[in-house]
Amino acid sequence: MTLLVPPPQPPPPAPQVRANPAPADSSSPSPTGSPAENAGNAPPGRARNPIRLAVFISGRGSNLAALLAAQADGPLRGVGEIVGIVTDTPEAGGLRLAAGAGLPTLVVMPQGRTREEHDHAILRGLARWRADLLVLAGYRRLVSPVLVGAFPGRILNIHPADPARFRGLHAYRWAWEEALPETTVTVHLVDEGMDTGPILAQAPVDLRGATGPDEVERRGLRVEHDLYPRALAEFIRREFGQAGDTTCAASSD
Ligand code: GRF
Repeated sequence: MTLLVPPPQPPPPAPQVRANPAPADSSSPSPTGSPAENAGNAPPGRARNPIRLAVFISGRGSNLAALLAAQADGPLRGVGEIVGIVTDTPEAGGLRLAAGAGLPTLVVMPQGRTREEHDHAILRGLARWRADLLVLAGYRRLVSPVLVGAFPGRILNIHPADPARFRGLHAYRWAWEEALPETTVTVHLVDEGMDTGPILAQAPVDLRGATGPDEVERRGLRVEHDLYPRALAEFIRREFGQAGDTTCAASSD
C-alpha cells in the first residue's frame, strides 16, 4: 500500500493516492506537531509490546533490510515492529523491500514545500500508523523542528562517521580521502541540527588495507547493520520498559 503525497504546486490538483487512503492533508502549520498529528505514541516507561517503528529511507535500504531481519529473528524480535516506510524518493530501492514485506509506504515529495510543510505532510500521513519511534535509515533530508517537536527524543538516525569529526553526506568518501585506518559508525537521537543529537551507540570500522571507497563503504555498512538494530532494541528497553523477548537481545550483545 502506497500513499503518494505529491508536491502541492504546480500542478495544483488533489493529492494522488495510490492504494490506501490516508488522513486528509489539510492541517494548518504550527511550530510543532499538533496532538492530533502525534496521537498514539506510547508514553515513556509504559511497555507496549512491541514498539511501533516508522522507518524513513531515501535510497537502497540496506539498513531497512537489517532492521527487518532483526525484527524477524534478531535483537528487535518482539521488541520493535516496523509499521510503515516513509520516503521522499519514489524510486528509492528500499521501497521494493517494503513492498516485499507488505508494509505501507508514505511518499512525500519535497518539491514546492518548505521543510516545515513537508514534515507536517509526513505527520498527517503517519497519524494512522500510531508510530512510537521514527527510525531514519539513510533518509537524506534534514528534518525540521515540526517533526522533532512532534517526536521529541523519539527520532533515531544512523550516521556513518563520528559526528565530532564529520557531519553530513558522503562520510565514507571522506574516510577514504583522509586515508583513515579506522572510522566510526554512530547511532544518535535526532535534534534540529545536522547529525548533532545525543549519541546512543558507536562502533569502530577497521579500514586498514581497504582498496577503495567502495570497500570502505562495504565494511562500514556491515558494522551499521549490526549496530543499528542492537542500539535501537537497547533504546526501546531503556525508554519503554521491558518490551519484547529479553533472551533474544541478551544473546545478541
Ligand atoms: C548509510 O551509510 C547510513 O549510515 C547513511 O546513509 C546510508 C544509507 O544506506 N545515513 P542504506 O540506504 O541503508 O543502504
